[in-house]
Amino acid sequence: MKTHEVYFDHLGVKPFENLIMESGISKTFVLCDQITAELCLPVLKELVDLREFTLILIPTGESHKTIDTCNIVWELLTKVNADRKALLINLGGGVLTDLGGFAASCYKRGIRFVNIPTTLLAMVDASTGGKTGVDFGSFKNQIGVFSAPEFTWVHSIFLKSLPQNQIRSGAAEMIKHGLIYDSKHFDEVISNFSDLTSLISDSVSIKQAVVAQDPTEKGLRKILNFGHTLGHAIESFYLKTSSSLLHGEAIAVGMILEAHLSHRRIGLSHEDLATITNHIHSLYDLPKINPADYQAIIELTKQDKKNEHGSVRFVGIEQIGKAAYDIPLAVEDVLEAFSYYKEVTL
Ligand code: GLY
Repeated sequence: MKTHEVYFDHLGVKPFENLIMESGISKTFVLCDQITAELCLPVLKELVDLREFTLILIPTGESHKTIDTCNIVWELLTKVNADRKALLINLGGGVLTDLGGFAASCYKRGIRFVNIPTTLLAMVDASTGGKTGVDFGSFKNQIGVFSAPEFTWVHSIFLKSLPQNQIRSGAAEMIKHGLIYDSKHFDEVISNFSDLTSLISDSVSIKQAVVAQDPTEKGLRKILNFGHTLGHAIESFYLKTSSSLLHGEAIAVGMILEAHLSHRRIGLSHEDLATITNHIHSLYDLPKINPADYQAIIELTKQDKKNEHGSVRFVGIEQIGKAAYDIPLAVEDVLEAFSYYKEVTL
C-alpha cells in the first residue's frame, strides 16, 4: 500500500483544488450521508471551488456500513458511466470514509479517492492509514481492503457542528495514541480535554509514524488496536441491544480493561494502571457491564482481526507511551479485568 499525505486546515486547499482540476480526473463524485450533505458540504463549498460534481447520498450511521450501502455507490457510478479516472471525495465520519474508501477501491478494481473527515474520530484515526471496509452482520470491519486515499484533508472547521459526545468519542483514540507511543501526548490530551484542536496533528503524526513502519499490519501496526480487542467486542455486543455505545466510549472501556490485562501480564505498574483508569473514568461516562454478559463479550473477541491460529491476542502497554502486541488473551485474566472494571464503576 502506498503512503499518503495528510493536510491540515488551509494547507489542504491547494492540493485539493489541484487534484480536482487535474486532466487525469474524468468526473468528481462527493459521497455524503444525510447529515454531512446538510452540514458539511456547504462548508466544503465555501473552502474550495468544487467545480462540477455529482453528489452520492447514503444513509447515516454504523448500521448502514454494509455492502448494501456500497451498492448504492456502485449503482450510481455505473448509471452515470463513471470510468476508472473518476474521483470520489469522502466527506463524513469514519463510517463514511471507511465505506467510501472500500467502494472506491473495488469499483472497476479501484478509482482514486480523497478523505475529508468531519468527526474527530475520523480525523485522528479512520481517515488515515488506508484501512477501508464495511461491517458484516454484527462483526465490525469484517470485509475490507488496505487502500490508501490520494490524501486526507483534516479541517478543524468541521468540528464546530459536532456534538460533545462525538468529540469525546474521537478523543479516546487520541488518548490511545499517547498511551501506546508518546506519554507526553497522553498528558497533553488529558490536560487539554476541553479543546483538543491544536493536538489533532500530533495525534495524526503518531498514527502515521506507526503506519509508515508497518502499513498492512503484519506486526507493529497492531499497537493501534490497544483497547480494541475488548472495546470492539463490547461495541459489537451493545450494537445488538438498545443501549449502543459510541466507538470511542467502547474503546475507553476497552483501554481500562486492557490496561488491567497489561498490569497482570506484562508488568504495567500499579501506578500507571491507576493513572489511566482515573483519567478515563473522570472524562467518560462509563457504562456498567452486567456480569451475565461477560461470556458473550469474551466470545465476540474470537472475531478480532489480530487473532492467529484461533488464539485471541491483545495489545498491552508496558508503561504509558510503550506498547507490546500479540499477547495471548486468557479468559481468567479477562474475568479479573471485568471485576476490576466493576469496582471502578460501582
Ligand atoms: N484504527 C487502527 C488502524 O488504523 O490501524
